[in-house]
Amino acid sequence: MGFFDTLGVKCVNELAIREKRVFLRTDFNFPVDENGNIADLERINKAIPTIKHILEHNARLIIASHFGRPESEKDVQYTLEPFAAKLAEILEQDIYFFEDCCGMGAMQMVRDLKPGQILVLENLRFNSEEKKGSSAFARELAKMCDVYINDAFGVSHRKDTSIAVLPRFVDTKGASFAVKQEVDELSKFLGLEHGSGLGIMLGGSNTTDKIGLIRPMLDMADKIILGGPLAYTFMAAQGISVGATPVDEEKIPLAKEILKSAKVRKVEIVLPVDHVVAETVNSTEPAVCKSESFPEGMSAFDIGPETVELFAQKIAECRHLFWSGPMGVYEKPQFSVGSLKLAQKISALPIHKVAGGGDTEEMLGKTEFAKNFDYVFTCGTAALEFLKNGGMIPGLEALKD
Ligand code: 3PG
Repeated sequence: MGFFDTLGVKCVNELAIREKRVFLRTDFNFPVDENGNIADLERINKAIPTIKHILEHNARLIIASHFGRPESEKDVQYTLEPFAAKLAEILEQDIYFFEDCCGMGAMQMVRDLKPGQILVLENLRFNSEEKKGSSAFARELAKMCDVYINDAFGVSHRKDTSIAVLPRFVDTKGASFAVKQEVDELSKFLGLEHGSGLGIMLGGSNTTDKIGLIRPMLDMADKIILGGPLAYTFMAAQGISVGATPVDEEKIPLAKEILKSAKVRKVEIVLPVDHVVAETVNSTEPAVCKSESFPEGMSAFDIGPETVELFAQKIAECRHLFWSGPMGVYEKPQFSVGSLKLAQKISALPIHKVAGGGDTEEMLGKTEFAKNFDYVFTCGTAALEFLKNGGMIPGLEALKD
């Protein structure tokens, strides 16, 4: 029996779904390249076993997801239509797409669905009620289905309508195979406390959500290793000059408090000691500098070679590693070296190591050494919230019987 089985949440294979209308809430919030093309298919790949299971039961499948953070009702760059096409290609099956996620038109499309057919709805976040945890919107979505399945662990830390409210209006509900696996893999970190040898390494661009999650991690981790934009806010909090590197000024007091608290609790906070710097992210000839001689007017876009060695050595002292977020602007080859070299070194360490979050997943997915990690999870913030809350987050809570 895994941790998932203790939650009081059913998995899709335990539910009566035959010929039912099944609403699958996916996390098709894909990383996209400069031209808007899907840069990594992992989120679709992880959903496929659940999709196939549902279709094998002759159910009518309704797929809904958010994509990006659209500010207006119909921000075309965030349409899910290309993803519906990609899914059709992968499944080698026709898929219907509807230009809204609810309303009369969507309802009619659902009525017309035959057993074994798939309808993909438009981006849930085009409806402003999605982010509000709205009962009215949830009721409207609930009219479309008999069964609700959550395949979106990556957004299950949010109280969004389709995640935390909609399941309450559907009698038959549960989690996808991918969500069950994510819960079971991440639960291996639950219960770790000081002395367990846990290292948490955080990077990536989503600093606002992540910095707030460092404080509770001080109760679990022995080392917290920071790269990417987060590290520069912590360096600034220590009075170290970071040139023109952007710093989250508002979070400096919090960074100072975390540094103080870490000292008291004997948690080691490890920051970069050298940096790959350039005037802009498009510069193709970056330089390397030490923290004590950071050049004015330059910004850091990657960790330097000494930092790669330092971080690898600190991680080798751990028994478990939880890593979320690249150390630099990994999309640019000239700023991807630090993250990739570090990932390669970590992959060879005989410790329990998991890594993830959209960007990390995409970055590792292109390497040969991704398979040496024990697990690659989908979303860093959701995973950290899950650990912080002892294995429960709103999207799972809403699935309880
Ligand atoms: C993710 O990709 O991190 C998840 O889909 C959550 O997206 P959000 O941070 O925009 O809610």
